[in-house]
Amino acid sequence: MSAEHALLEVRNLRKSYPTRTALGTRGGEVHAVNGISFDLREGECYGLVGESGCGKTTTGRLLQGMLAPSGGTIAYRGTPLSSLSRAALRAYRSDVQMIFQDPYSALNPRKRVGRILEESLKIQGATPGRELRSSVIASLEAVGLSEEHFDRYPHEFSGGQRQRIGIARALIVSPRIILCDEPVSALDVSIQAQILNLLRRLQRELGLTYLFISHDLSVVRYIADRVGVMHRGELVEEGTTEEIFARPRHPYTKSLLAAVPARHPAERKRRPTQHDRLEETA
Ligand SMILES: Nc1ncnc2c1ncn2[C@@H]1O[C@H](COP(=O)(O)OP(=O)(O)OP(=O)(O)O)[C@@H](O)[C@H]1O
Ligand SMILES: [Mg+2]
Repeated sequence: MSAEHALLEVRNLRKSYPTRTALGTRGGEVHAVNGISFDLREGECYGLVGESGCGKTTTGRLLQGMLAPSGGTIAYRGTPLSSLSRAALRAYRSDVQMIFQDPYSALNPRKRVGRILEESLKIQGATPGRELRSSVIASLEAVGLSEEHFDRYPHEFSGGQRQRIGIARALIVSPRIILCDEPVSALDVSIQAQILNLLRRLQRELGLTYLFISHDLSVVRYIADRVGVMHRGELVEEGTTEEIFARPRHPYTKSLLAAVPARHPAERKRRPTQHDRLEETA
């Protein structure tokens, strides 16, 4: 990668969807993403915040390369996705993995966890055998699970454990970028802290780059290095996490900040408890 290019450069990105009238005929268009530009820099965690329907998930899916933009460009290490060959686009999609809010709906309920993880690697051309199994076990261990979970089904896990499986499935293909779409929004606050700490540790150890989508500002404040604020399909403000929380400039950012407790409980200093010791091993 040449030094002057960010890992991902998003420029004037647009996505609109056709809307339908009550009679089912084609109506107008909804501009879900309406001309946003930002850089995702190697090794950073970029928080994308904004209220429901402002276009966060659509942005994530565009960056994943699974949804075609209506306009604008996404460049990976300086090369626009639109100019990648089919094989290069496939490699890009494996470099960029997603983690979702509801890991359970993303896991096949009839498959054992070990098989689900093996399948991700097989898509990349891995062949069944002892090596495949040890890669799966390594990825389970990386997220705080173990070999004993290999033969269990998704319903046998708690919400936090399922999110760990979702993270393992993203990690197993050795991605560079992880697009996290509300990964802790469905979890209890104490479990949120464990998953956020796990994501931070993995980022540090593996040199990952995150786009972290959340409507929860306290979560973003805890994990993000920089923050982009989305409002009705547009990026209205961007800055370091410190800047955004200390000196918000846009009225919309100010109103968002006024509406929420700014610190995540994971940031509170407490005397160490059993729970904290669990977090440390997360
Ligand atoms: N497949 C689709 N077809 C039509 N409209 C869509 C589609 N996906 C999203 N939209 C619309 O685009 C806009 C942005 O949706 P998006 O899911 O990106 O928002 P979001 O910020 O992720 O919201 P949330 O916080 O609720 O997840 C919304 O108005 C939504 O209704
Ligand atoms: Mg969403």
